[in-house]
Amino acid sequence: MSVANYFETMEYGPAPEADGEARAWLARHGATFGHFIAGKFTAPHAGKHLTTIEPATGKALARIAQGAAADVEAAVHAARTAQVAWAKLGGHGRARHLYALARMLQRHARLFAVLEAIDNGKPIRETRDLDVPLAARHFYYHAGWAQLQEREFADQVPIGVIGQIIPWNFPLLMLAWKIAPALAAGNTVVLKPAEFTSLTALLFAELSAEAGLPPGVLNVVTGDGATGALLVESPVDKIAFTGSTEVGRLIRQTTAGTGKSLTLELGGKSPFIVFDDADIDGAVEGVVDAIWFNQGQVCCAGSRLLLQEGIAETFRRRLIRRMSTLRVGMPLDKAIDMGAVVAPVQLERIKALVETGVKEGAEKYQTPGAMPAEGCFYPPTLLWNVHPSSTVATEEIFGPVLVAMTFRTPDEAVMLANNTRYGLAASVWSETIGLALDIAPKLLAGVVWVNATNLFDASVGFGGYRESGFGREGGREGMVEYLKPKAWSGRKARPKASPLPIASGASAGFDVPPIDRTAKLFVGGKQVRPDGNYSRAVLSPKGRRLGEAGEGNRKDIRNAVAAARAAESWARATAHNRAQILYYLAENLSARGDEFTRRIADMTGVSSAKARGEVDASIERLFSYGAWADKFEGSVHAPPLRGVALAMHEPIGVVGVACPDEAPLLAFISLVAPLVAMGNRVVAVPSERHPLAATDFYQVLETSDVPGGVVNIVTGDRGELVKVLAEHDDVDALWAFGSQDASAAAERLSIGNLKRTLVDHGLALDWYDKAASEGPILLRHAVQVKNIWIPYGD
Ligand code: NAI
Repeated sequence: MSVANYFETMEYGPAPEADGEARAWLARHGATFGHFIAGKFTAPHAGKHLTTIEPATGKALARIAQGAAADVEAAVHAARTAQVAWAKLGGHGRARHLYALARMLQRHARLFAVLEAIDNGKPIRETRDLDVPLAARHFYYHAGWAQLQEREFADQVPIGVIGQIIPWNFPLLMLAWKIAPALAAGNTVVLKPAEFTSLTALLFAELSAEAGLPPGVLNVVTGDGATGALLVESPVDKIAFTGSTEVGRLIRQTTAGTGKSLTLELGGKSPFIVFDDADIDGAVEGVVDAIWFNQGQVCCAGSRLLLQEGIAETFRRRLIRRMSTLRVGMPLDKAIDMGAVVAPVQLERIKALVETGVKEGAEKYQTPGAMPAEGCFYPPTLLWNVHPSSTVATEEIFGPVLVAMTFRTPDEAVMLANNTRYGLAASVWSETIGLALDIAPKLLAGVVWVNATNLFDASVGFGGYRESGFGREGGREGMVEYLKPKAWSGRKARPKASPLPIASGASAGFDVPPIDRTAKLFVGGKQVRPDGNYSRAVLSPKGRRLGEAGEGNRKDIRNAVAAARAAESWARATAHNRAQILYYLAENLSARGDEFTRRIADMTGVSSAKARGEVDASIERLFSYGAWADKFEGSVHAPPLRGVALAMHEPIGVVGVACPDEAPLLAFISLVAPLVAMGNRVVAVPSERHPLAATDFYQVLETSDVPGGVVNIVTGDRGELVKVLAEHDDVDALWAFGSQDASAAAERLSIGNLKRTLVDHGLALDWYDKAASEGPILLRHAVQVKNIWIPYGD
């Protein structure tokens, strides 16, 4: 078409970005890449390569190495070798390196933006204006944390070598999200990019070496899922993964019991809720950003449109009109809205799911207009009148497909929004701030945007609730994921327990027996008999029978979990109220201090003075959590976008706790109190060997106004009960202390609903050492952070 024609028709002409520099970079490498290990490209050991395709044309773009075990080993070795010196460099030294990486990204912004668009298929408009600037911002922000680390994270140390596995939807941005905090904290990295989109990671590695990053600090091993699996099994200290929930589960299983830390950022099916008083045109634009940004290949895409009934029809009309103006085209064309889907396999998946949606009765609307003939393109799609339980409303489509349904009342909106196994993000649209801020806390999602969507910043944590994974990226909480408490490093394995004593035989003559007391279980605020009606003898170290404790089973745990779930109002009790109850517990424990002292001395064989010390430490610990209850608060972030983000500390929900045998009262209190202080409800399994301090505690709970169901106690076999708790899908988190077996079982068996776990891996904690077992060190595991973005100022 001539320019005159364009004036005539007012149609867009192509405005392609030049790709010469990116193609020249590929040519310089002969379009074939090795792994980037110890500061240079290294040929793959097995000599195998994969071909990476340009999604918009279907043409081969480059060959990347398929990482084998020896490659992963070499990379982990390089990272291990570099880690000590990297940590020793200190915060300021690392800050300067991160700053240099940010500058390097900005210097080469155009090259990165073009290469990313070619390799991934996403529009240059997005890579240029979002992916690359946000990646640079991540390095600047984390250069800041490195600088402040010695002051702000003084009680933490780096974890070591981190294995990071990232997906193809934001290849460069995910690299930045992963490596910036890891390096800032003093760790070194082996990164495995997604097989579809490894090129910007390789470019980044090459340019970071040029920017002076020491060899081995960042290593990139390419390859498919098999290479990823090798990295997971390698001797790294932590795995950080972003990708599908399915692979996330596998990784949880493989790492269970190994002592490796793990963070998972998985899928979503995020709701986009529009109330009838919303700015409709604003919300329609929001939908465009929610689901057609990056071809909908966004883990937090607003893929479920929930419309209040009164505006549904108007909204549908305006949305369809807006869809007709969207342009799908070549990624390097600066005037397109949507580019290509990443790969044929994803395109087929999207097509199949849309067909399913239509078969399930949805009405389908698609953006009309020409799409490039070749390549992986799919038009913006709306599925209208979708049933909340249909496949397309529950499965992550990971493509430009929006499913719509309606609701009548705010309560119904919340119910529909939470009707998913995921919990990554949510978007709420209403001009009534009171309504939006009433809904936000009720949404089970790690991020909530009010009158906005898909906002990201390095200073604001990102990550999910429920099956969207655990851990946060960004913000202070993201840094903590790459550090471990100093007080926990250098812990020794718990000494092997001496064999259980044998009950001593009858003494000569007849004794008057003590009045029999069989401790029951404590469920829903009441003492109840164990379901199986069995109990076990509790003996002193010398074999004297001290009493009997109920033998809890699967049914008892189920009842306790149901009671804990029903005590949901505890999550909404004010922090002041929770603090008062914790102080009251301390007061009532103190009143019965002598009795508890005798009990501990009898059960464990320690001296009375030592037992008294344990009781006193327990009283102080309760006091301490009374103090923390209204002080371990969230914060307010001021990202460089219009608005603020409230980082709220929310309780996780129902938490299972298995306690160790050492310090049976103090350890029990140390684990239960932080959870209760933060609004969780607990199902606790006390020390298996010395349970009577916890069962004596029933009466303290009963006299201290703790609402029924907030603390439930089931005595019995730790191993068995941990297993039941781990497999129970209505338990949201599990803290398993006391043995390596319990730790491993908690991690391995909790994949059903991807519980957050905190375990001791059989390493003993010093329960008297406050630095190791009191305060934020545990409190941060007792909350999940929800970031609520709200408009503020101009
Ligand atoms: P995926 O989860 O298989 O791939 C993500 C990364 O994990 C890639 O680097 C891959 O090589 C690696 N990987 C695959 N199998 C592995 C294993 N067994 N052990 C270790 N690493 C492994 O995702 P895929 O197959 O590319 O996409 C499938 C679906 O996953 C998408 O349709 C979407 O629903 C979801 N997904 C979600 C993402 C998110 O950001 N939450 C990103 C990518 C995909």
